[in-house]
Amino acid sequence: MCGIVGYIGNKKATPILINGLLSLEYRGYDSAGIAVLENNKIVVMKDKGRVNNLNNIDGINNLNGTIGIAHTRWATHGKPSKENSHPHLDNSNSFAVVHNGIIENYNELRNFLTEKGYTFISQTDTEVIPNLIHYYYKNGIKDENVFLRAVKSAVDDLKGSYAIEVISPLFPNRVIVVRKDSPLVIGKGENENYIASDIPAILSHTKNFYLLDDNEYAEIYTDHINFYDSSLVSHSKAVKNIEWDASAAEKDGFEDYMLKEIFEQPNSIRETIGSRLKLNELCSFDDLDLSKEYLQSINKIYIVACGTAMHAGLAGKNAIEKLCRIPVTVDIASEFRYRDPIIDDKTLCIYISQSGETADTIAALKLAKTKGAKTLAVSNVIGSSITREANYTIYTHAGPEIAVASTKAYTSQVVLLVILAIYFAEILNSTPANLLNDLKADILDLPVKIETILDQLEPIKDFAKKVYTQKDMFFLGRGTDYNVALEGSLKLKEISYIHSEAYSAGELKHGPIALIENGITVVSILTDPSLVEKSISNIQEVITRGAKTLVITNQNLTNKHFDFVINIPNTNPLISPILSVVPLQLLAYYISKNKGLDVDKPRNLAKSVTVE
Ligand code: AGP
Ligand code: GLU
Repeated sequence: MCGIVGYIGNKKATPILINGLLSLEYRGYDSAGIAVLENNKIVVMKDKGRVNNLNNIDGINNLNGTIGIAHTRWATHGKPSKENSHPHLDNSNSFAVVHNGIIENYNELRNFLTEKGYTFISQTDTEVIPNLIHYYYKNGIKDENVFLRAVKSAVDDLKGSYAIEVISPLFPNRVIVVRKDSPLVIGKGENENYIASDIPAILSHTKNFYLLDDNEYAEIYTDHINFYDSSLVSHSKAVKNIEWDASAAEKDGFEDYMLKEIFEQPNSIRETIGSRLKLNELCSFDDLDLSKEYLQSINKIYIVACGTAMHAGLAGKNAIEKLCRIPVTVDIASEFRYRDPIIDDKTLCIYISQSGETADTIAALKLAKTKGAKTLAVSNVIGSSITREANYTIYTHAGPEIAVASTKAYTSQVVLLVILAIYFAEILNSTPANLLNDLKADILDLPVKIETILDQLEPIKDFAKKVYTQKDMFFLGRGTDYNVALEGSLKLKEISYIHSEAYSAGELKHGPIALIENGITVVSILTDPSLVEKSISNIQEVITRGAKTLVITNQNLTNKHFDFVINIPNTNPLISPILSVVPLQLLAYYISKNKGLDVDKPRNLAKSVTVE
């Protein structure tokens, strides 16, 4: 999920690797490291913290090796530490590996290797890879291709996502790379080649790139590169000329991080689901062992968070209450911590924080601990403060989120909370298995459904162009659609500075309708079939008073007189926020762009609010 750099050529590799890592720093990371082939040995230098710290490691400036791999880690398995930093070596120091992504079956593979006598130094999922390569190398026929075959056999055992670089002093003239669901590019030079997870890391060296496909291998030498498919059948590959400037490259060609992160959602959701949820199998969490007795004993759940994370909590409440029949209260952390909430050992408190550093959320968690409740953190950042305080942590694995306005973290939080609700329901036996299985199928379909929404940007762009000069906007919805209305309204406020309000559609006539006047924009979300008719009546009330309406819906509403309709795919109402929020994220984004604002760094806001 974070950065990879590699070099093979005639120059000293170390400065190229370190400079490459520095140009990936914008992505956020917690550790950095390099491995260089030096006098027929692998030398690894790594530590947690900044890339620049590598320059202080004794001897790093004396490395003369011309083949090397490098990594900035954004921890997913095992806290940020020197041991967990990449590169990782096999037990015989014959193979060095850096890896971006998540190996979902690493426990199984670790057990397999442990039985074969391998030992492990780190807590990472990655460390199985060099050892598997060694295992297959040791048992393979020692010809020229044994290295590639050993990497392929190891990769065949992996489930999950990966971009991998491997070097070995046994084969000191090549770097082997492979990827699946995690980016990797090769930069072609003159008698040298570069490797990177992201183009900016090597853009200063070359404009000629090979973009590696999923399940494709490359064996990279100084003066040539061999490409292979997943069965090791070789093929040729066309080089692409990339004329990006450095800033476009940092964002993978997207104009802003926010847009990039909106488009990352199909993949970030795939990572969140990982191996936790599969069709026709019980949900499982590696990092959670709540017993049936404990879950039966709790009589109340609090979900506590701030901002967007709190909005994700509202969707979590719907899922837990519906599937587990346990009452859930969602609270804003800054309120919860000062309102003397009723908490005891029969209360489970769930805290959601993308950054894991939000001061109010951490204080609210500490409070619950003093009252004897069990605490469960939902975070995106491994080893963040909240995860160190909580009894249990489950990670969203959404990858680093850089834009201040949260997008992919929200959808991953909602997915994770719904999987958690299914997991509880399976332990408690509180919802029939066939209904849970239908919901699982709908969750697994989410990434593809988001892709279809992201394919239809024009109507959203058109609407944004029409309304960006407005001073006020309203967002309406009922039930789960109201929760999404809150998130859509927050996104708009944050990045467009347009005043907006989200209302439960049924509440409108109890006051706010007084604000509806000719030309005002009202955005309505209509996805819950049981509430659609009622919501339509509420929209008619605002149309009668001259409002311009945008409706986001998965229902067939062709005959109604709305100004704009954006159709989204149908799904189970418990997870509909994950789809309906996407047009709202895009709407806020394009309105902000029309106003010429800084989308990624809105005024007055910080990415993580570490003060009260
Ligand atoms: C989201 O767009 C906001 N920037 C903000 O509401 C954010 O969600 C909130 O500050 C919570 O942050 P956390 O998830 O890192 O705790
Ligand atoms: N899963 C690996 C780890 O936790 C790689 C993380 C990354 O992509 O940076 O070490």
